[in-house]
Amino acid sequence: MPSTRFFATCAKGVEPILAKELKELGVQNLRTASGGAHFEGSMEAMYRANLWLRTANRVLMRLAVIPCPTPQVLYQNVRHIRWHDWISAQQTLAVDCNCRNSAISHSHFAALKIKDAIVDQIRDSTGSRPDVDTQDPDIRVNAHIANDSCDLSLDASGNGLHMRGYRRQTAEAPIRETLAAAIVELADWNSEGFFIDPMCGSGTILIEAAMKALNYAPGLLRSGKKTFGFQRWRGFNDTCWATLVDEAKDRIRDRIPGRLLGYDMSRRAIEIAKDNITIAGLSHCVRLAKGNVLKLNPSGHTGTIACNLPFGERSGDVEALAPLYKGVGDILKQRCTGYKAYLFTGNLKLAKSIGLRPSRRITLYNGPIECRLLEYELY
Ligand SMILES: C[S@@+](CC[C@H](N)C(=O)[O-])C[C@H]1O[C@@H](n2cnc3c(N)ncnc32)[C@H](O)[C@@H]1O
Repeated sequence: MPSTRFFATCAKGVEPILAKELKELGVQNLRTASGGAHFEGSMEAMYRANLWLRTANRVLMRLAVIPCPTPQVLYQNVRHIRWHDWISAQQTLAVDCNCRNSAISHSHFAALKIKDAIVDQIRDSTGSRPDVDTQDPDIRVNAHIANDSCDLSLDASGNGLHMRGYRRQTAEAPIRETLAAAIVELADWNSEGFFIDPMCGSGTILIEAAMKALNYAPGLLRSGKKTFGFQRWRGFNDTCWATLVDEAKDRIRDRIPGRLLGYDMSRRAIEIAKDNITIAGLSHCVRLAKGNVLKLNPSGHTGTIACNLPFGERSGDVEALAPLYKGVGDILKQRCTGYKAYLFTGNLKLAKSIGLRPSRRITLYNGPIECRLLEYELY
């Protein structure tokens, strides 16, 4: 099969974890870059990446890199690409564009030029044209303009890959599924003993940890709903996709030796987490209960503790939350011997209140916020 070039995007800081995942999938010519990783492979490799990547936000398929010193040249060069290989006149499309350091500096204007070129080419060859739909397009074109060169891709994921399909509701300050998956990858729980999230909110970290331990492909829940971009492309290989989905279903483990436990002080958060866990089909391995982290006492067992602490955004939050951070530090020290703990926070000042020396400090971005995942070895 011919090899195509792809770029999987991810949150800043997650690139090495994404690269590890891609390596395990056996892709070719893997190379990390800021905010993602380049790789090459067949269409099947791209389907598999969308189905199995836990930490990627989306997978883009590169169509061409074209010079674009002027809007006219951009238009002409976009018209030379064989769009009818991917999109028919009856489908809808949207163009996302960003510009940097180029003569063309307005991304909205550049997106219009690209859209015009695609639509004109298809109308000239078929007599009718695709419509634009910015909400739920069949085909999403991604254009990245830098230094008068335009990198054109098709978005193979469509809806972002964080939309796994299990989170119908969220509690306070939920973490993105893909970021939770990155925390889980870094925590590297061996599926034995306990995996505890004592401030589980909507249950995202627990669900991602359970999916990983069970070898449950993160894209399975949305696989039948045509929410992956490539499922709407012309030439989509339904048979190949169905085989990959069947294979992924067969690879789910029935059970794991360990147990996942989630607590939260908020009754509502526990109800939401319970619903999400049920939708994900994971009720058999995750237990939930209302509880205060300051009463946590998992001694007598071993395992992993992982959570994201509330970190607030208003002034005054630091003073209000410092006792909670100190309390969590004390509990880890006094009652969690035999565990490894991973605390995620976006407030570096508050992190100091934990009062324990981390064995690792990992920088991860939650959108624009620079955060830390702090590792504590409590042996
Ligand atoms: C940042 S949120 C966690 C979000 C979660 N990771 C998710 O994806 O939905 C922090 C959670 O800690 C809970 N919480 C705050 N103080 C707590 C305490 N003392 N004990 C237990 N839970 C607490 C809040 O109710 C909230 O759900």
